[in-house]
Formats: sequence, C-alpha cells, structure tokens
Amino acid sequence: MAGQRPKRADTVGAKGTFDGGRASGVSVRGRPCQLVVCRGCCCGRKKKRPGVDHQGQLARLSALRDHEGRDIPVRVSTCLGICFKANVVVVQPSSEGRARGGRPVWLGDFLEDRLVDDLDDWIFDGGPGISPLPEALQQHLTSKDAEKPKKKSGKKPKKEKKPRKEKGEKGAARGKAESVKREKKSKKDKRKKAKDGKAGERA
Ligand code: FES
Repeated sequence: MAGQRPKRADTVGAKGTFDGGRASGVSVRGRPCQLVVCRGCCCGRKKKRPGVDHQGQLARLSALRDHEGRDIPVRVSTCLGICFKANVVVVQPSSEGRARGGRPVWLGDFLEDRLVDDLDDWIFDGGPGISPLPEALQQHLTSKDAEKPKKKSGKKPKKEKKPRKEKGEKGAARGKAESVKREKKSKKDKRKKAKDGKAGERA
C-alpha cells in the first residue's frame, strides 16, 4: 500500500534503510523504470493546457525515485503524436518489469498535480509488469495509436441549393431583366428630354 511505504523523501540518500522491496518479494534489478515526458507543440504549453504548472510538473517527475532510491531517468520528447491527449507521459518498465511482461504505459491528460503522486506511488511499487496500474491512473491510460475523437457536429444544416434553372428558363429570365432595364432607360431619357425642353422654353 502506498500509504504504508516509507516516504520517497525518507529513502532519498538513505540507501539501506529500505529493503529494496525484498520483504514484498519484489526485487528490482538492472535498469529502473524510465519516463518519457512530452513537451512539444501541445504538451507543456500553457496556451493548450492552461492553469497547469508545466515546469513544476517536469521538475517533480524528474525527481522521482524507485524503492531502491534509484533516480528515474526522464527523457523529454517532442511531440509523441497524440497531442489531443496533452500532457502525455510514457512509463517504461524496469528491466525486471519488462522481463515479467511489462510494456510501456502511455498516460494522457496528465495535468493534475495529484497524478504525479499516483505515478510516484506506482513506480515506487515497481511500475509496469510488477505492480498493477493504480485506478487513478487507469483513467488516463492511452496509447500511441489513440484516435482523436471526432467533433460533435454542431454545424447548421446546409442550405438547400436552389434548383438550377434550365437553359431556356435562364434565357427568359435574362431577357426579362434586359427589357426592364430598357424600360427604365427609356423613361429616364424621356424625363431628360422633357427637362431639356422646359429649359429651352425658359431660355
Ligand atoms: S505535443 Fe505531446 S503529443 Fe504532441
């Protein structure tokens, strides 16, 4: 249980004060778990994920240690390809975890501070292949093949197209428009003539 184990802070620099998990039957040897933390076009960007201390999150993730007091290496990556899940963190199993069948675990929407605590607990307990993924992190489980959910169509229904006028109809309409135009012009001319006539009489 995460609550019963020594605090990570207690184990830092105090190798030998903790039995390295042997009491629980888990002995982690070889390479520890590793993290890949995405900091690309979306992950770690205030513009995309406002209200998150992205730098603070990275700093906390970079300070994680396993139950043997080993630093958890962190590799910062540029876009991992599932930006809609920003921030994305991948947990790679330790050597032993991999030998036991553990595979990289992709976590998305990794934003809240408490998730770092949950991840810390999980890695402390062994991580992928050794300890089951805590429930709190299960909700953030994703994969490199995750598909972007389609937007709900809030679009207005398309206007119905006016039926295209037939060639003959088109010609008739054009003819009508032209005759209206002609009529207007002749009225205008008449008015102009009348005006000119009156002006002549007055002169
Ligand atoms: S920026 Fe992180 S997945 Fe694209």
